[in-house]
Amino acid sequence: MKTRITELLGIEHPIIQGGMHFVGLAELAAAVSNAGGLGIITALTQATPELLAKEIARCRDMTDKPFGVNLTFLPAFAKPPYPEYIRAIIEGGVKVVETAGRNPESVMPYLKAAGIKVIHKCTSVRHSLKAEAIGCDAVSVDGFECGGHPGEDDVPNFILLPRAAEELKIPFVASGGMADGRSLVAALVLGAEGMNMGTRFIATKEAPVHDNVKQAIVAASELDTRLIMRGLRNTERVLNNSGVERVLAIEREKGAALTIADLYGQVAGIYPKVMRDGDMEAGAWSCGMVAGLIHDVPSVKELIDRIMREADTLINQRLAGIVRA
Ligand SMILES: Cc1cc2nc3c(=O)[nH]c(=O)nc-3n(C[C@H](O)[C@H](O)[C@H](O)COP(=O)(O)O)c2cc1C
Repeated sequence: MKTRITELLGIEHPIIQGGMHFVGLAELAAAVSNAGGLGIITALTQATPELLAKEIARCRDMTDKPFGVNLTFLPAFAKPPYPEYIRAIIEGGVKVVETAGRNPESVMPYLKAAGIKVIHKCTSVRHSLKAEAIGCDAVSVDGFECGGHPGEDDVPNFILLPRAAEELKIPFVASGGMADGRSLVAALVLGAEGMNMGTRFIATKEAPVHDNVKQAIVAASELDTRLIMRGLRNTERVLNNSGVERVLAIEREKGAALTIADLYGQVAGIYPKVMRDGDMEAGAWSCGMVAGLIHDVPSVKELIDRIMREADTLINQRLAGIVRA
């Protein structure tokens, strides 16, 4: 399949693995890139820029295909040394960066001077247009369904993607709720040039997380995610568990007086406990509604090959058959 995204990134299939805290390590990124998509290492999972440089080198040992690095600007409890992380990305020879959180305007000159393609992940048309205006090469449009931070507008992809298509000149990929060949074809029809998946890639053989996490995703239905931190305008979609129930109880109790400090114990430092140790009740971790569409734990290559086969059959048989009739 050839789209503006495969051309821009030099990849075979229009499928990107979004940055994921404590999931986007070299093993997963390399597996996705080797299977013809774009794998992405998550910069801030590496505690220091030096460790990120090592992770980039490790990924390069595992693949000779292009891969990217995610740089997330979120309201963090401790401000990471972003200039040093960017230096590690540039010196590591990485050619694609996925930015997220606030807009990357302040870092664009450094990334562009290094010949890096920037894909900004946004949850609204206005933020996508801003990304286009500041020189981003593409956007990843994250609908309300998505795992992680869906923003505060609550617009799902059936509306958000065609709205993005109406306004944007740069190419965009659909993100949030994407799982299979149906998702890819739908994304293309709605105007996207490919798709970005998070949750689906966690339930793969190569994802370097505890098996409990993969099994929790397979067991979950589309009804099992919750939205936390709405009152802080830092909404996160997470898989429900007893830690999340505690967050929601604190949010109800504090009401408008809620501050991030009230939730610190339930949302800070949770990822290693869940992803590495498999403690599924530890607290809040991002997960998309798409869990309801995930029923197995294939290898990344099996998953991507299956998606491309399904997409081909849908376009050339189902849709072509409907049109011919
Ligand atoms: C466990 C998990 C961790 C994530 N961590 C990050 C992150 O650190 N930075 C980021 O930009 N997006 C993060 N995301 C969002 C994904 O990159 C992607 O946009 C999202 O998962 C797409 O929605 P989906 O899960 O429905 O596929 C995370 C998602 C998950 C599921």
